[in-house]
Amino acid sequence: MGKVSVNINGKDVTVDEGTTILEACKKINIKIPTLCNHPDLETKGNCRICIVEVEGQKIFSAACCTTVRDGMKIKTNTKRVREARKIIMELIISSHRDECLSCVRSNNCELQTLSKELNVNNVTFDKNIRPIKIDKSSPAIVRDPSKCIKCGRCVEVCHDVQGVGAIYNAFRSSDMEISLPFEAKLDDVECVYCGQCINVCPVGAIYEKDDTENVWDAIEDKNKHVIVQIAPAVRVSLGEEIGMEPGSIVTGKIVAFLRRIGFDKVFDTNFAADLTIMEEGNELLYRLKNNGTLPMMTSCSPGWIRYIEFFYPELLDHVSSCKSPQQMFGALAKSYYTQKFNIDPKDIVVVSIMPCTAKKAEAIRKEMNDSGHQDVDIVLTTRELGRMVKESRILLEELQEEEFDAPLGISTGAAAIFGSTGGVMEAALRTVYEVVTGEELENIDLYDLRGIEGFKESIVKIGELEVKVAVVNSLKNAKKILEMIKKGECDYHFVEVMCCPGGCIGGGGQPIPGNNEIKMKRIDGIYYVDKGLSIRKSHKNPAVLQVYKEYLGEPLGEKSHKLLHTHYNYKSK
Ligand code: SF4
Ligand code: SF4
Ligand code: SF4
Ligand code: FES
Repeated sequence: MGKVSVNINGKDVTVDEGTTILEACKKINIKIPTLCNHPDLETKGNCRICIVEVEGQKIFSAACCTTVRDGMKIKTNTKRVREARKIIMELIISSHRDECLSCVRSNNCELQTLSKELNVNNVTFDKNIRPIKIDKSSPAIVRDPSKCIKCGRCVEVCHDVQGVGAIYNAFRSSDMEISLPFEAKLDDVECVYCGQCINVCPVGAIYEKDDTENVWDAIEDKNKHVIVQIAPAVRVSLGEEIGMEPGSIVTGKIVAFLRRIGFDKVFDTNFAADLTIMEEGNELLYRLKNNGTLPMMTSCSPGWIRYIEFFYPELLDHVSSCKSPQQMFGALAKSYYTQKFNIDPKDIVVVSIMPCTAKKAEAIRKEMNDSGHQDVDIVLTTRELGRMVKESRILLEELQEEEFDAPLGISTGAAAIFGSTGGVMEAALRTVYEVVTGEELENIDLYDLRGIEGFKESIVKIGELEVKVAVVNSLKNAKKILEMIKKGECDYHFVEVMCCPGGCIGGGGQPIPGNNEIKMKRIDGIYYVDKGLSIRKSHKNPAVLQVYKEYLGEPLGEKSHKLLHTHYNYKSK
Protein backbone atom coordinates (compact mmCIF):
# COMPACT_ATOMS: atom_id res chain seq x y z
CA MET A 1 0.00 0.00 0.00
CA GLY A 2 1.33 3.43 -0.95
CA LYS A 3 1.96 6.23 1.53
CA VAL A 4 0.85 9.85 1.43
CA SER A 5 2.11 12.83 3.41
CA VAL A 6 -0.25 15.48 4.71
CA ASN A 7 0.02 18.45 6.99
CA ILE A 8 -2.46 18.78 9.84
CA ASN A 9 -2.46 22.01 11.87
CA GLY A 10 1.15 22.62 10.81
CA LYS A 11 2.38 19.11 11.64
CA ASP A 12 3.50 16.71 8.89
CA VAL A 13 2.17 13.17 9.05
CA THR A 14 2.58 10.17 6.72
CA VAL A 15 -0.26 7.68 6.44
CA ASP A 16 -1.41 4.84 4.17
CA GLU A 17 -3.23 5.73 0.97
CA GLY A 18 -6.98 5.55 1.51
CA THR A 19 -6.78 6.87 5.10
CA THR A 20 -9.53 9.33 6.00
CA ILE A 21 -8.82 12.73 7.50
CA LEU A 22 -10.46 11.45 10.70
CA GLU A 23 -8.03 8.52 10.92
CA ALA A 24 -5.02 10.68 10.07
CA CYS A 25 -5.97 13.12 12.84
CA LYS A 26 -6.35 10.29 15.33
CA LYS A 27 -2.83 9.18 14.52
CA ILE A 28 -1.47 12.48 15.88
CA ASN A 29 -3.92 12.63 18.81
CA ILE A 30 -6.37 15.11 17.34
CA LYS A 31 -9.90 14.12 18.29
CA ILE A 32 -12.38 15.21 15.61
CA PRO A 33 -16.01 15.34 16.83
CA THR A 34 -18.26 12.67 15.27
CA LEU A 35 -21.89 11.59 15.59
CA CYS A 36 -22.98 9.49 12.63
CA ASN A 37 -19.60 7.77 12.35
CA HIS A 38 -19.18 4.48 14.25
CA PRO A 39 -15.97 2.43 14.32
CA ASP A 40 -17.70 -0.83 13.32
CA LEU A 41 -20.02 0.58 10.62
CA GLU A 42 -19.59 2.04 7.14
CA THR A 43 -19.12 5.79 6.88
CA LYS A 44 -22.31 7.70 6.11
CA GLY A 45 -21.45 11.40 6.23
CA ASN A 46 -24.90 12.34 7.54
CA CYS A 47 -24.25 14.72 10.41
CA ARG A 48 -21.34 16.97 9.21
CA ILE A 49 -20.16 17.63 12.77
CA CYS A 50 -16.69 16.38 11.77
CA ILE A 51 -15.99 19.21 9.31
CA VAL A 52 -12.45 20.54 8.81
CA GLU A 53 -10.84 23.06 6.46
CA VAL A 54 -8.70 21.86 3.56
CA GLU A 55 -6.42 24.46 1.96
CA GLY A 56 -7.61 25.47 -1.51
CA GLN A 57 -11.22 24.39 -0.90
CA LYS A 58 -14.01 26.90 -0.25
CA ILE A 59 -16.34 24.46 1.48
CA PHE A 60 -15.63 22.36 4.54
CA SER A 61 -14.74 18.69 4.20
CA ALA A 62 -16.29 15.96 6.36
CA ALA A 63 -13.29 14.31 8.04
CA CYS A 64 -14.96 10.91 8.39
CA CYS A 65 -15.58 10.42 4.67
CA THR A 66 -12.79 12.38 2.97
CA THR A 67 -9.63 10.46 2.15
CA VAL A 68 -6.33 12.29 2.37
CA ARG A 69 -4.34 13.22 -0.73
CA ASP A 70 -0.59 13.69 -0.89
CA GLY A 71 0.34 17.25 0.08
CA MET A 72 -3.07 18.04 1.58
CA LYS A 73 -3.05 20.83 4.18
CA ILE A 74 -5.75 20.39 6.79
CA LYS A 75 -6.87 22.72 9.59
CA THR A 76 -9.08 21.24 12.31
CA ASN A 77 -9.27 24.03 14.84
CA THR A 78 -9.79 27.41 13.15
CA LYS A 79 -12.38 29.92 14.38
CA ARG A 80 -14.41 29.20 11.23
CA VAL A 81 -14.41 25.44 11.93
CA ARG A 82 -15.30 25.86 15.60
CA GLU A 83 -18.16 28.25 14.83
CA ALA A 84 -19.55 26.03 12.07
CA ARG A 85 -19.48 22.98 14.32
CA LYS A 86 -21.32 24.92 17.01
CA ILE A 87 -24.02 25.92 14.52
CA ILE A 88 -24.43 22.31 13.40
CA MET A 89 -24.68 21.21 17.02
CA GLU A 90 -27.24 23.94 17.80
CA LEU A 91 -29.34 22.86 14.82
CA ILE A 92 -29.28 19.25 16.02
CA ILE A 93 -30.23 20.29 19.55
CA SER A 94 -33.05 22.52 18.28
CA SER A 95 -34.88 19.48 16.93
CA HIS A 96 -34.00 17.20 19.85
CA ARG A 97 -36.12 16.71 22.97
CA ASP A 98 -33.42 17.30 25.55
CA GLU A 99 -34.41 16.16 29.01
CA CYS A 100 -31.08 14.86 30.21
CA LEU A 101 -32.00 14.56 33.89
CA SER A 102 -34.49 11.77 33.22
CA CYS A 103 -33.01 10.23 30.08
CA VAL A 104 -31.86 6.60 30.01
CA ARG A 105 -28.63 7.62 28.23
CA SER A 106 -27.66 10.54 30.47
CA ASN A 107 -23.93 10.36 31.27
CA ASN A 108 -23.46 7.95 28.38
CA CYS A 109 -24.77 10.04 25.51
CA GLU A 110 -22.60 11.14 22.60
CA LEU A 111 -24.75 14.20 21.94
CA GLN A 112 -24.62 15.36 25.55
CA THR A 113 -20.85 14.82 25.74
CA LEU A 114 -20.15 16.51 22.43
CA SER A 115 -22.33 19.50 23.19
CA LYS A 116 -20.21 20.13 26.29
CA GLU A 117 -16.94 19.44 24.46
CA LEU A 118 -17.85 21.92 21.72
CA ASN A 119 -18.71 24.48 24.39
CA VAL A 120 -22.31 24.95 23.23
CA ASN A 121 -23.88 27.01 26.00
CA ASN A 122 -26.79 28.50 24.16
CA VAL A 123 -29.11 27.36 21.38
CA THR A 124 -30.08 30.29 19.20
CA PHE A 125 -32.50 28.44 16.89
CA ASP A 126 -36.19 27.95 17.72
CA LYS A 127 -37.07 24.51 19.01
CA ASN A 128 -38.74 22.31 16.41
CA ILE A 129 -39.29 18.90 18.02
CA ARG A 130 -41.34 16.07 16.53
CA PRO A 131 -44.50 15.21 18.46
CA ILE A 132 -43.74 12.78 21.27
CA LYS A 133 -44.90 9.37 20.05
CA ILE A 134 -42.96 6.78 22.02
CA ASP A 135 -43.33 3.29 20.54
CA LYS A 136 -43.62 0.77 23.39
CA SER A 137 -45.29 -1.94 21.30
CA SER A 138 -42.31 -4.32 21.44
CA PRO A 139 -41.71 -6.55 24.49
CA ALA A 140 -38.01 -5.67 24.29
CA ILE A 141 -37.28 -2.36 22.53
CA VAL A 142 -38.62 1.19 22.99
CA ARG A 143 -38.30 3.88 20.27
CA ASP A 144 -38.51 7.60 20.99
CA PRO A 145 -38.25 9.52 17.68
CA SER A 146 -38.28 12.88 19.49
CA LYS A 147 -34.71 12.13 20.58
CA CYS A 148 -33.49 10.81 17.24
CA ILE A 149 -30.71 12.85 15.61
CA LYS A 150 -31.05 11.02 12.27
CA CYS A 151 -27.50 9.70 12.26
CA GLY A 152 -28.58 6.55 10.41
CA ARG A 153 -26.51 4.09 12.46
CA CYS A 154 -29.55 2.02 13.49
CA VAL A 155 -30.73 1.67 9.90
CA GLU A 156 -27.32 0.51 8.80
CA VAL A 157 -26.94 -2.08 11.54
CA CYS A 158 -30.47 -3.40 10.99
CA HIS A 159 -30.01 -3.69 7.20
CA ASP A 160 -26.33 -4.35 6.63
CA VAL A 161 -25.22 -6.23 9.75
CA GLN A 162 -28.44 -8.07 10.61
CA GLY A 163 -30.02 -8.21 7.15
CA VAL A 164 -33.44 -7.57 8.69
CA GLY A 165 -34.49 -4.12 7.46
CA ALA A 166 -37.17 -3.44 10.08
CA ILE A 167 -36.39 0.28 10.17
CA TYR A 168 -35.39 2.55 7.31
CA ASN A 169 -34.79 6.12 6.15
CA ALA A 170 -38.04 7.69 4.99
CA PHE A 171 -38.18 10.94 2.97
CA ARG A 172 -35.17 12.94 1.85
CA SER A 173 -32.81 15.76 2.92
CA SER A 174 -34.13 17.81 5.85
CA ASP A 175 -37.42 15.84 5.91
CA MET A 176 -35.55 12.58 6.41
CA GLU A 177 -36.95 10.46 9.27
CA ILE A 178 -36.05 7.09 10.72
CA SER A 179 -39.25 5.21 10.24
CA LEU A 180 -41.04 1.89 9.88
CA PRO A 181 -43.04 0.87 6.81
CA PHE A 182 -46.37 2.76 6.68
CA GLU A 183 -45.55 4.25 10.07
CA ALA A 184 -46.14 0.87 11.70
CA LYS A 185 -45.05 0.14 15.26
CA LEU A 186 -41.96 -1.95 15.96
CA ASP A 187 -44.00 -4.98 16.97
CA ASP A 188 -45.94 -4.84 13.69
CA VAL A 189 -42.82 -5.53 11.59
CA GLU A 190 -40.20 -8.28 11.36
CA CYS A 191 -37.98 -6.87 14.11
CA VAL A 192 -36.10 -9.75 15.75
CA TYR A 193 -35.52 -7.78 18.99
CA CYS A 194 -31.74 -8.12 18.68
CA GLY A 195 -31.15 -4.65 20.14
CA GLN A 196 -28.19 -3.94 17.87
CA CYS A 197 -29.86 -0.64 16.96
CA ILE A 198 -29.72 0.30 20.66
CA ASN A 199 -26.03 -0.54 20.87
CA VAL A 200 -25.08 1.82 18.04
CA CYS A 201 -27.52 4.67 18.79
CA PRO A 202 -25.48 7.64 20.05
CA VAL A 203 -28.43 9.01 22.07
CA GLY A 204 -31.50 7.87 23.98
CA ALA A 205 -33.75 7.38 20.94
CA ILE A 206 -33.83 3.55 21.17
CA TYR A 207 -33.50 1.63 24.39
CA GLU A 208 -34.48 -1.60 26.13
CA LYS A 209 -37.83 -1.99 27.89
CA ASP A 210 -37.01 -1.46 31.55
CA ASP A 211 -38.15 -4.25 33.89
CA THR A 212 -36.17 -3.24 36.97
CA GLU A 213 -39.24 -2.15 38.96
CA ASN A 214 -40.84 -5.57 38.42
CA VAL A 215 -37.75 -7.15 39.97
CA TRP A 216 -37.70 -4.79 42.97
CA ASP A 217 -41.43 -5.55 43.51
CA ALA A 218 -40.85 -9.32 43.36
CA ILE A 219 -38.02 -9.10 45.91
CA GLU A 220 -40.22 -7.03 48.25
CA ASP A 221 -43.04 -9.57 48.10
CA LYS A 222 -42.65 -11.74 51.20
CA ASN A 223 -44.92 -14.44 49.73
CA LYS A 224 -42.60 -15.11 46.82
CA HIS A 225 -39.46 -17.22 46.59
CA VAL A 226 -37.39 -15.19 44.14
CA ILE A 227 -34.45 -16.80 42.36
CA VAL A 228 -32.10 -15.44 39.73
CA GLN A 229 -29.87 -16.84 36.98
CA ILE A 230 -26.93 -14.99 35.40
CA ALA A 231 -25.93 -15.60 31.77
CA PRO A 232 -22.29 -16.37 30.86
CA ALA A 233 -21.58 -13.00 29.19
CA VAL A 234 -22.89 -10.86 32.06
CA ARG A 235 -20.00 -11.72 34.39
CA VAL A 236 -17.49 -10.11 32.01
CA SER A 237 -19.56 -6.99 31.28
CA LEU A 238 -21.44 -5.83 34.37
CA GLY A 239 -18.22 -4.40 35.81
CA GLU A 240 -17.78 -2.33 32.66
CA GLU A 241 -21.36 -1.06 32.98
CA ILE A 242 -20.57 0.35 36.42
CA GLY A 243 -17.27 1.93 35.44
CA MET A 244 -14.66 -0.85 35.63
CA GLU A 245 -12.33 -1.80 32.77
CA PRO A 246 -13.92 -3.72 29.84
CA GLY A 247 -13.48 -7.45 30.36
CA SER A 248 -13.36 -7.18 34.19
CA ILE A 249 -14.62 -10.45 35.68
CA VAL A 250 -17.08 -9.81 38.51
CA THR A 251 -18.83 -13.19 38.88
CA GLY A 252 -18.51 -13.55 42.67
CA LYS A 253 -19.32 -9.89 43.25
CA ILE A 254 -22.55 -10.15 41.26
CA VAL A 255 -23.53 -13.17 43.39
CA ALA A 256 -22.82 -11.21 46.57
CA PHE A 257 -24.75 -8.19 45.28
CA LEU A 258 -27.82 -10.20 44.28
CA ARG A 259 -27.91 -11.80 47.75
CA ARG A 260 -27.57 -8.39 49.40
CA ILE A 261 -30.58 -6.99 47.58
CA GLY A 262 -32.76 -9.90 48.64
CA PHE A 263 -32.81 -12.75 46.13
CA ASP A 264 -33.55 -16.04 47.90
CA LYS A 265 -31.18 -18.05 45.70
CA VAL A 266 -28.54 -17.01 43.20
CA PHE A 267 -28.06 -19.53 40.41
CA ASP A 268 -26.12 -19.67 37.20
CA THR A 269 -27.36 -19.98 33.60
CA ASN A 270 -24.05 -21.77 33.04
CA PHE A 271 -25.55 -24.81 34.80
CA ALA A 272 -28.22 -24.87 32.09
CA ALA A 273 -25.60 -24.26 29.41
CA ASP A 274 -23.95 -27.53 30.46
CA LEU A 275 -27.35 -29.19 30.28
CA THR A 276 -27.83 -27.74 26.78
CA ILE A 277 -24.59 -29.38 25.67
CA MET A 278 -25.79 -32.74 27.02
CA GLU A 279 -29.00 -32.45 25.04
CA GLU A 280 -27.67 -30.73 21.92
CA GLY A 281 -24.57 -32.93 21.67
CA ASN A 282 -26.75 -36.04 21.84
CA GLU A 283 -29.19 -34.57 19.32
CA LEU A 284 -26.29 -34.03 16.91
CA LEU A 285 -25.11 -37.61 17.37
CA TYR A 286 -28.66 -38.88 16.84
CA ARG A 287 -28.96 -36.92 13.60
CA LEU A 288 -25.54 -38.09 12.39
CA LYS A 289 -26.35 -41.75 13.07
CA ASN A 290 -29.94 -41.72 11.82
CA ASN A 291 -29.75 -39.71 8.62
CA GLY A 292 -31.32 -36.72 10.33
CA THR A 293 -31.54 -33.22 8.86
CA LEU A 294 -28.07 -31.67 8.57
CA PRO A 295 -26.50 -29.30 9.19
CA MET A 296 -27.98 -29.03 12.64
CA MET A 297 -28.03 -25.39 13.70
CA THR A 298 -27.87 -24.20 17.32
CA SER A 299 -30.90 -22.68 18.98
CA CYS A 300 -29.72 -20.66 21.99
CA SER A 301 -30.03 -17.24 20.39
CA PRO A 302 -33.66 -16.03 20.32
CA GLY A 303 -33.04 -13.25 17.78
CA TRP A 304 -31.72 -15.89 15.38
CA ILE A 305 -34.77 -18.10 16.02
CA ARG A 306 -37.10 -15.21 15.24
CA TYR A 307 -35.11 -14.47 12.09
CA ILE A 308 -35.38 -18.00 10.69
CA GLU A 309 -39.06 -18.15 11.66
CA PHE A 310 -39.75 -14.98 9.70
CA PHE A 311 -37.45 -15.34 6.71
CA TYR A 312 -36.58 -19.04 6.20
CA PRO A 313 -39.37 -21.09 7.86
CA GLU A 314 -38.88 -23.90 5.32
CA LEU A 315 -35.47 -24.56 6.94
CA LEU A 316 -36.67 -24.79 10.55
CA ASP A 317 -35.94 -28.55 10.62
CA HIS A 318 -32.26 -27.64 10.65
CA VAL A 319 -32.62 -25.90 14.02
CA SER A 320 -31.90 -27.99 17.12
CA SER A 321 -35.03 -28.64 19.15
CA CYS A 322 -33.16 -27.68 22.35
CA LYS A 323 -34.47 -24.70 24.25
CA SER A 324 -31.95 -22.00 25.10
CA PRO A 325 -30.10 -22.27 28.44
CA GLN A 326 -32.29 -19.46 29.85
CA GLN A 327 -35.42 -21.47 29.11
CA MET A 328 -33.99 -24.83 30.18
CA PHE A 329 -33.13 -23.20 33.49
CA GLY A 330 -36.65 -21.78 33.88
CA ALA A 331 -38.34 -25.10 33.08
CA LEU A 332 -36.17 -26.97 35.60
CA ALA A 333 -36.49 -24.24 38.24
CA LYS A 334 -40.27 -24.55 38.17
CA SER A 335 -40.30 -28.37 38.14
CA TYR A 336 -37.22 -30.15 39.51
CA TYR A 337 -36.16 -27.38 41.89
CA THR A 338 -39.62 -26.66 43.31
CA GLN A 339 -40.26 -30.39 43.84
CA LYS A 340 -36.88 -30.98 45.46
CA PHE A 341 -37.31 -28.08 47.90
CA ASN A 342 -41.05 -28.38 48.37
CA ILE A 343 -41.98 -24.98 46.93
CA ASP A 344 -45.32 -24.34 45.22
CA PRO A 345 -44.42 -23.36 41.60
CA LYS A 346 -47.02 -20.60 41.87
CA ASP A 347 -44.94 -18.95 44.57
CA ILE A 348 -41.62 -18.85 42.77
CA VAL A 349 -40.40 -15.98 40.60
CA VAL A 350 -37.59 -16.74 38.14
CA VAL A 351 -35.50 -13.72 37.11
CA SER A 352 -32.84 -13.82 34.38
CA ILE A 353 -29.94 -11.43 33.89
CA MET A 354 -29.07 -11.61 30.21
CA PRO A 355 -26.81 -9.76 27.73
CA CYS A 356 -29.71 -9.86 25.31
CA THR A 357 -32.88 -7.87 24.60
CA ALA A 358 -34.45 -10.71 22.60
CA LYS A 359 -34.49 -12.87 25.74
CA LYS A 360 -37.28 -10.66 27.09
CA ALA A 361 -39.43 -11.76 24.17
CA GLU A 362 -38.27 -15.37 24.35
CA ALA A 363 -39.48 -15.67 27.96
CA ILE A 364 -43.06 -14.79 26.98
CA ARG A 365 -43.28 -17.13 23.96
CA LYS A 366 -46.29 -19.37 24.35
CA GLU A 367 -44.09 -22.49 23.95
CA MET A 368 -42.07 -21.58 27.05
CA ASN A 369 -44.36 -22.90 29.78
CA ASP A 370 -43.61 -26.61 29.90
CA SER A 371 -43.37 -26.54 33.68
CA GLY A 372 -47.09 -25.68 33.69
CA HIS A 373 -46.27 -22.01 34.35
CA GLN A 374 -44.36 -19.32 32.46
CA ASP A 375 -40.89 -20.78 32.94
CA VAL A 376 -39.00 -17.47 33.22
CA ASP A 377 -40.88 -14.52 34.70
CA ILE A 378 -38.68 -11.43 34.31
CA VAL A 379 -35.65 -10.77 32.12
CA LEU A 380 -33.20 -7.94 32.77
CA THR A 381 -30.32 -6.94 30.53
CA THR A 382 -26.80 -6.25 31.80
CA ARG A 383 -27.54 -2.53 31.50
CA GLU A 384 -30.65 -2.83 33.66
CA LEU A 385 -28.75 -4.75 36.34
CA GLY A 386 -26.15 -1.96 36.21
CA ARG A 387 -28.96 0.51 36.94
CA MET A 388 -30.10 -1.56 39.92
CA VAL A 389 -26.55 -1.62 41.26
CA LYS A 390 -26.36 2.18 41.08
CA GLU A 391 -29.85 2.66 42.50
CA SER A 392 -29.12 0.33 45.46
CA ARG A 393 -26.09 2.48 46.43
CA ILE A 394 -24.21 -0.76 47.19
CA LEU A 395 -20.62 -0.61 45.97
CA LEU A 396 -20.51 -3.87 44.04
CA GLU A 397 -16.85 -3.46 43.17
CA GLU A 398 -15.98 -3.51 46.91
CA LEU A 399 -17.99 -6.63 47.80
CA GLN A 400 -16.27 -9.88 48.79
CA GLU A 401 -16.81 -12.56 46.16
CA GLU A 402 -19.38 -15.26 46.96
CA GLU A 403 -20.26 -18.63 45.42
CA PHE A 404 -23.45 -19.49 43.55
CA ASP A 405 -26.05 -21.62 45.31
CA ALA A 406 -26.26 -25.36 44.59
CA PRO A 407 -27.45 -27.29 42.68
CA LEU A 408 -28.46 -24.95 39.82
CA GLY A 409 -25.36 -22.82 40.29
CA ILE A 410 -22.71 -25.46 39.56
CA SER A 411 -21.10 -25.27 36.13
CA THR A 412 -18.01 -25.90 34.01
CA GLY A 413 -15.64 -23.99 31.74
CA ALA A 414 -17.50 -25.32 28.72
CA ALA A 415 -20.58 -23.40 29.87
CA ALA A 416 -18.58 -20.25 30.52
CA ILE A 417 -17.54 -19.95 26.87
CA PHE A 418 -21.16 -19.90 25.65
CA GLY A 419 -20.83 -16.12 26.00
CA SER A 420 -18.52 -15.79 23.01
CA THR A 421 -19.02 -16.60 19.34
CA GLY A 422 -17.65 -20.13 18.82
CA GLY A 423 -18.14 -21.07 22.45
CA VAL A 424 -21.20 -23.30 22.06
CA MET A 425 -19.49 -25.21 19.24
CA GLU A 426 -16.28 -25.67 21.25
CA ALA A 427 -18.23 -26.78 24.33
CA ALA A 428 -20.30 -29.25 22.26
CA LEU A 429 -17.23 -30.74 20.58
CA ARG A 430 -15.45 -31.21 23.93
CA THR A 431 -18.37 -33.44 24.97
CA VAL A 432 -19.25 -35.12 21.65
CA TYR A 433 -15.63 -36.20 21.16
CA GLU A 434 -15.49 -37.98 24.52
CA VAL A 435 -18.97 -39.52 24.19
CA VAL A 436 -18.19 -40.95 20.73
CA THR A 437 -14.62 -42.12 21.28
CA GLY A 438 -14.74 -42.93 24.98
CA GLU A 439 -11.32 -41.29 25.15
CA GLU A 440 -10.23 -38.13 26.93
CA LEU A 441 -9.87 -35.08 24.68
CA GLU A 442 -6.36 -33.91 25.52
CA ASN A 443 -6.32 -30.62 23.71
CA ILE A 444 -9.59 -29.00 24.67
CA ASP A 445 -8.81 -25.45 23.54
CA LEU A 446 -10.17 -25.36 19.98
CA TYR A 447 -8.50 -22.17 18.79
CA ASP A 448 -9.80 -22.48 15.19
CA LEU A 449 -13.27 -21.72 16.46
CA ARG A 450 -12.30 -18.65 18.49
CA GLY A 451 -12.11 -14.99 17.51
CA ILE A 452 -14.59 -12.30 16.62
CA GLU A 453 -14.78 -12.97 12.82
CA GLY A 454 -18.30 -13.34 11.51
CA PHE A 455 -17.79 -16.65 9.66
CA LYS A 456 -15.39 -19.45 10.65
CA GLU A 457 -15.22 -23.12 9.69
CA SER A 458 -13.26 -26.18 10.71
CA ILE A 459 -13.12 -29.96 10.31
CA VAL A 460 -12.91 -31.95 13.52
CA LYS A 461 -11.93 -35.62 13.56
CA ILE A 462 -14.06 -37.53 16.09
CA GLY A 463 -13.14 -41.22 15.97
CA GLU A 464 -14.08 -42.36 12.46
CA LEU A 465 -16.20 -39.26 11.88
CA GLU A 466 -14.98 -36.11 10.13
CA VAL A 467 -17.32 -33.45 11.41
CA LYS A 468 -17.41 -30.26 9.33
CA VAL A 469 -18.52 -27.31 11.40
CA ALA A 470 -19.16 -23.60 10.91
CA VAL A 471 -19.51 -20.76 13.42
CA VAL A 472 -21.33 -17.58 12.39
CA ASN A 473 -22.32 -14.44 14.21
CA SER A 474 -24.66 -11.65 13.06
CA LEU A 475 -27.69 -12.52 10.97
CA LYS A 476 -26.15 -11.45 7.68
CA ASN A 477 -23.67 -14.32 8.11
CA ALA A 478 -26.41 -16.74 9.19
CA LYS A 479 -28.19 -15.85 5.95
CA LYS A 480 -25.13 -17.01 3.97
CA ILE A 481 -25.47 -20.50 5.49
CA LEU A 482 -29.23 -20.57 4.92
CA GLU A 483 -28.74 -19.65 1.26
CA MET A 484 -26.10 -22.39 0.92
CA ILE A 485 -28.57 -24.93 2.31
CA LYS A 486 -31.30 -23.76 -0.06
CA LYS A 487 -28.98 -24.18 -3.04
CA GLY A 488 -27.90 -27.65 -1.86
CA GLU A 489 -24.32 -26.38 -1.46
CA CYS A 490 -23.93 -26.78 2.31
CA ASP A 491 -21.86 -29.73 3.53
CA TYR A 492 -21.53 -28.70 7.17
CA HIS A 493 -22.76 -31.10 9.84
CA PHE A 494 -23.11 -28.62 12.65
CA VAL A 495 -23.43 -24.81 12.61
CA GLU A 496 -23.36 -22.45 15.58
CA VAL A 497 -25.39 -19.29 14.97
CA MET A 498 -25.37 -16.25 17.22
CA CYS A 499 -27.56 -13.34 16.30
CA CYS A 500 -25.30 -10.61 17.63
CA PRO A 501 -21.85 -9.61 16.33
CA GLY A 502 -19.26 -11.33 18.52
CA GLY A 503 -21.90 -13.55 20.17
CA CYS A 504 -23.58 -12.81 23.50
CA ILE A 505 -20.72 -10.56 24.64
CA GLY A 506 -22.00 -8.20 21.90
CA GLY A 507 -25.67 -8.70 22.79
CA GLY A 508 -28.25 -5.93 22.53
CA GLY A 509 -28.38 -5.53 26.31
CA GLN A 510 -24.65 -5.10 26.88
CA PRO A 511 -22.77 -1.95 27.94
CA ILE A 512 -22.54 0.90 25.44
CA PRO A 513 -20.20 1.54 23.72
CA GLY A 514 -19.29 -1.98 22.67
CA ASN A 515 -17.07 -1.72 19.62
CA ASN A 516 -14.92 -4.63 18.41
CA GLU A 517 -11.93 -3.61 20.53
CA ILE A 518 -14.06 -3.70 23.67
CA LYS A 519 -15.75 -6.95 22.62
CA MET A 520 -12.33 -8.61 22.31
CA LYS A 521 -11.62 -7.69 25.95
CA ARG A 522 -14.91 -9.27 27.01
CA ILE A 523 -14.02 -12.41 25.02
CA ASP A 524 -10.61 -12.59 26.73
CA GLY A 525 -12.47 -12.46 30.05
CA ILE A 526 -14.72 -15.35 28.99
CA TYR A 527 -11.79 -17.66 28.10
CA TYR A 528 -10.01 -16.64 31.29
CA VAL A 529 -13.03 -17.84 33.29
CA ASP A 530 -12.95 -21.15 31.38
CA LYS A 531 -9.24 -21.68 32.02
CA GLY A 532 -9.64 -21.04 35.73
CA LEU A 533 -12.27 -23.72 36.32
CA SER A 534 -11.31 -27.22 37.47
CA ILE A 535 -13.99 -28.91 35.31
CA ARG A 536 -14.11 -27.73 31.68
CA LYS A 537 -16.43 -30.26 30.01
CA SER A 538 -20.20 -30.23 30.35
CA HIS A 539 -20.63 -34.00 30.71
CA LYS A 540 -18.41 -33.86 33.80
CA ASN A 541 -20.66 -31.38 35.63
CA PRO A 542 -21.66 -33.30 38.82
CA ALA A 543 -24.84 -31.25 39.35
CA VAL A 544 -26.04 -31.93 35.80
CA LEU A 545 -25.34 -35.67 36.21
CA GLN A 546 -27.26 -35.59 39.48
CA VAL A 547 -30.30 -33.96 37.84
CA TYR A 548 -30.36 -36.69 35.18
CA LYS A 549 -30.09 -39.33 37.91
CA GLU A 550 -32.72 -37.86 40.20
CA TYR A 551 -35.20 -36.43 37.75
CA LEU A 552 -34.64 -36.26 34.00
CA GLY A 553 -33.48 -39.79 33.27
CA GLU A 554 -31.26 -39.48 30.23
CA PRO A 555 -30.47 -36.92 27.51
CA LEU A 556 -33.24 -36.91 24.88
CA GLY A 557 -35.37 -39.02 27.25
CA GLU A 558 -39.10 -38.46 27.75
CA LYS A 559 -38.83 -35.93 30.56
CA SER A 560 -35.97 -34.07 28.86
CA HIS A 561 -38.07 -33.82 25.73
CA LYS A 562 -41.00 -32.39 27.60
CA LEU A 563 -39.05 -29.81 29.60
CA LEU A 564 -35.91 -29.01 27.62
CA HIS A 565 -36.95 -29.22 23.97
CA THR A 566 -39.46 -27.34 21.86
CA HIS A 567 -40.35 -26.63 18.25
CA TYR A 568 -40.36 -23.39 16.32
CA ASN A 569 -42.89 -22.20 13.75
CA TYR A 570 -43.32 -19.95 10.73
CA LYS A 571 -44.15 -16.40 11.78
CA SER A 572 -45.67 -13.68 9.66
CA LYS A 573 -46.46 -10.03 10.20
S1 SF4 B 1 -30.42 11.72 24.36
FE1 SF4 B 1 -28.65 12.63 25.33
S2 SF4 B 1 -28.90 14.83 25.06
FE2 SF4 B 1 -30.86 13.86 24.67
S3 SF4 B 1 -31.97 13.93 26.60
FE3 SF4 B 1 -30.89 11.98 26.50
S4 SF4 B 1 -28.94 12.34 27.53
FE4 SF4 B 1 -29.80 14.35 27.02
S1 SF4 C 1 -33.90 -4.75 17.28
FE1 SF4 C 1 -32.63 -5.59 15.60
S2 SF4 C 1 -34.13 -6.18 14.05
FE2 SF4 C 1 -35.19 -4.80 15.47
S3 SF4 C 1 -34.96 -2.77 14.58
FE3 SF4 C 1 -33.26 -3.03 15.99
S4 SF4 C 1 -31.57 -3.82 14.73
FE4 SF4 C 1 -33.48 -4.09 13.55
S1 SF4 D 1 -32.57 6.21 16.39
FE1 SF4 D 1 -30.49 6.59 17.16
S2 SF4 D 1 -29.18 5.42 15.75
FE2 SF4 D 1 -31.16 5.64 14.75
S3 SF4 D 1 -30.93 7.45 13.49
FE3 SF4 D 1 -31.86 8.09 15.41
S4 SF4 D 1 -30.15 8.72 16.68
FE4 SF4 D 1 -29.30 7.53 15.00
S1 FES E 1 -19.24 12.09 11.71
FE1 FES E 1 -18.61 12.77 9.78
S2 FES E 1 -20.44 13.32 8.81
FE2 FES E 1 -21.10 12.53 10.73
